[in-house]
Amino acid sequence: MKLNISFTHLYSFSAAHRLYSPVFSDEKNLQVYGKCNNLYGHGHDYTVEITIKGEPDKESGMIIPSTEMNSAVNNLLSELNYKHLDKETPFFLQHVSTGEIIIQFLWDELNKRIPNRLLYHIKLWESNNNYFEIGEDI
Ligand code: NI
Repeated sequence: MKLNISFTHLYSFSAAHRLYSPVFSDEKNLQVYGKCNNLYGHGHDYTVEITIKGEPDKESGMIIPSTEMNSAVNNLLSELNYKHLDKETPFFLQHVSTGEIIIQFLWDELNKRIPNRLLYHIKLWESNNNYFEIGEDI
């Protein structure tokens, strides 16, 4: 039987956004998103817990070289860090930047950048009070 091991690393990025859906009226946007619909936006210091799972490589003793994982994640997060998501990042010009959509974006992008489907779980902290999770057993 193969024995899996998981490894989790914490990363962070900061970004501004405004929750607004073009399919809703202004009134409906305010009703759905409340203060997160504030015209001039607001910001978050996001924390991202990335978990990979697999068998350690026989030669390196690691599931994936941590340098490779750090480089994949940091490259992706640098596309979001210190940005106004809805105004500056191509994906969120087209999609509402809720935590649910941000974590799906991270999941899809990291699956392209971390090989062999090792990505297992992501936890996205939006504040000290709330987080989102995505993964195969959520
Ligand atoms: Ni927000």
